[in-house]
Amino acid sequence: MKLVTLEDYIIKKQADFPYATGELTGLLSAIVLAAKVVNREVNKAGIADITGAYGAENIQGEQQQKLDVFADEVFMDALESQGQVCGMASEEQEDFIQFDSHVAQNGNYVVMIDPLDGSSNIDVNVSIGTIFAIYRRVSPIGQPLEMRDFLQKGDKQVAAGYVIYGSSTMLVYTTGKGVNGFTLDPSLGTFYLSHPLMQIPKKGKIYSINEGNYPHFSSGMKKYIAHCKELNPDSNRPYSARYIGSLVADFHRNMLKGGLFMYPATTTAPNGKLRLLYECNPFAMIAEQAGGLASDGKNRVMEIEPTGLHQRIAYFTGSEDMVKDVERFLKEDE
Ligand code: AHG
Ligand code: MN
Ligand code: MN
Repeated sequence: MKLVTLEDYIIKKQADFPYATGELTGLLSAIVLAAKVVNREVNKAGIADITGAYGAENIQGEQQQKLDVFADEVFMDALESQGQVCGMASEEQEDFIQFDSHVAQNGNYVVMIDPLDGSSNIDVNVSIGTIFAIYRRVSPIGQPLEMRDFLQKGDKQVAAGYVIYGSSTMLVYTTGKGVNGFTLDPSLGTFYLSHPLMQIPKKGKIYSINEGNYPHFSSGMKKYIAHCKELNPDSNRPYSARYIGSLVADFHRNMLKGGLFMYPATTTAPNGKLRLLYECNPFAMIAEQAGGLASDGKNRVMEIEPTGLHQRIAYFTGSEDMVKDVERFLKEDE
């Protein structure tokens, strides 16, 4: 079998990219490099704890950073130094950032990023990830970036992807022509194409939700949960419940096995928890490119006009039939 590396694949496919040749190659290689650096630190997190890193001072008396801050800086530096990206907005930072290095000023792209997703799982050795979305800047090049460069609809994404730091580390991305997954060989530091043209099964039998929030769910949501647990062998019910608490890991499992990830609105969090720009839109593009769907319960996620950088929405994504089912149940709340 011929092994295809991520670099080979990107170069081979760059003609599919609707914009200038070579831009995507540079941009993705910045992401790949940052992912490898973060992967190395994530893998060291347990041992670094024993040796007194993260939150403590190191030998030089410097304050060690938390992994999510570390990841944020690694991605920021890598993106700035490539030259295609002129700015970035991150879940870790209140405002968007305009890169001021000479090389980045004329970049055509902005990146939205959740540098470390599932960060509450770092301490317990459970999979975490990075989520990214790439857009064309809309304001004139050479001028200061504007909020409208970042508040673009998900439909405007030119690429989106995630890295999962799991039992294997994988990078999965789409440029709008299907979704491909690459697995890292840690000894060589090379990603190989392992999951070409990924497709989410149309029907699934896994539901993923933080069911501890049940008392705060709407009546439609409660009924859908009851539906998932109902005995009905013809439609594979009861479904299995799986919830890791790292969106990247829950989404990745559902990509491969089929299923539905839900983070609904609750009485205590009426807009849900997940962020439209850093989490929901990139996964919406990936889900749709893999034959699945992403909804806020009523609307297609990628058509939502963003109003704020850190906006949250209710979120349902995964197998097509399951997303349509939960939307039907939620209609009753209207
Ligand atoms: P982050 O670590 O980037 O803040 O994201 C955490 C998110 C997401 O990964 C996960 O699906 C969700 O929070 C879990 O929330 P609950 O603990 O409320 O279930
Ligand atoms: Mn997150
Ligand atoms: Mn995060």
